[in-house]
Amino acid sequence: MEDQFTLAETASHSVLQRTSLRPRIGLVLGSGLGGFADSLTDAARIPFAEIPAFSRSTAIGHAGQMVIGKAGAVPVAVMQGRVHLYEGYSAQQVAFPTRVFGRMGIRAVILTNAAGGINLNYQRGALVLIRDHINLQGTNPLAGANDDRFGVRFPDMTHAYSKQYRAIAREEAAKLGMTLHEGVYAALLGPSYETPAEISYLRIIGADLVGMSTAFEVIAARHMGIKVLAISCVTNMAAGILDQPLSHQEVMETGERVKTSFEALLRAVLPRMAQDNPE
Ligand code: HPA
Repeated sequence: MEDQFTLAETASHSVLQRTSLRPRIGLVLGSGLGGFADSLTDAARIPFAEIPAFSRSTAIGHAGQMVIGKAGAVPVAVMQGRVHLYEGYSAQQVAFPTRVFGRMGIRAVILTNAAGGINLNYQRGALVLIRDHINLQGTNPLAGANDDRFGVRFPDMTHAYSKQYRAIAREEAAKLGMTLHEGVYAALLGPSYETPAEISYLRIIGADLVGMSTAFEVIAARHMGIKVLAISCVTNMAAGILDQPLSHQEVMETGERVKTSFEALLRAVLPRMAQDNPE
């Protein structure tokens, strides 16, 4: 079997062959947040199935294509949908698109997701900058032999979520008159939502948000030296907070509701990130 690096290289070439754009920023759009990709201009839309070694997304609310296009003047590569560990994919498979971004020359990513709100100051529909994460998925995309072409054996995770990008996002949110919280994201395997007891536990250990994605992408990005901005949409308050059951429908509906402000924020942040010369 070919190694991940060669596979990522092959996938990258295949994607770049379909467009003359050379994106410098990669985005991953979470559940219910995929609409941003529809607004890109000069867009090439590539179903995951047509990208070598890419896994197909099975989650509802995930379109499953990579869109290369322009957001204003900024060329971007957008994953409209992602794959998750709970779908049966390995941690490496989940992280693979991030590695393809890296091989495409992308040095900065914006990762978005739908999350349950644990912090009682949040409300359904709130947008939260991820400041840090707690990986409770029980595995890591870097487990196994290290490929030095991607990065070092033991990557630092102290500054995983760029302070500079968070400052940019806060500034742009303020200009738009939007409230942007900041918090710690706990990544769990899923696919069942958490129990109320698990949510109490997550609050005690310092989590403000809970979800089933993003952590592996961040780990793979940092391994490659790619800078990260991550934003959660609180699609529902986490289990046990409100006296009502959780549903994927609620998650999707909230995504739809925050769409306009969420997309405005992405649009405002992108040109400023594009100006940045990542270290
Ligand atoms: N828990 C886990 N993942 C989620 C949730 C949740 O409450 N909402 C959206 N994704």
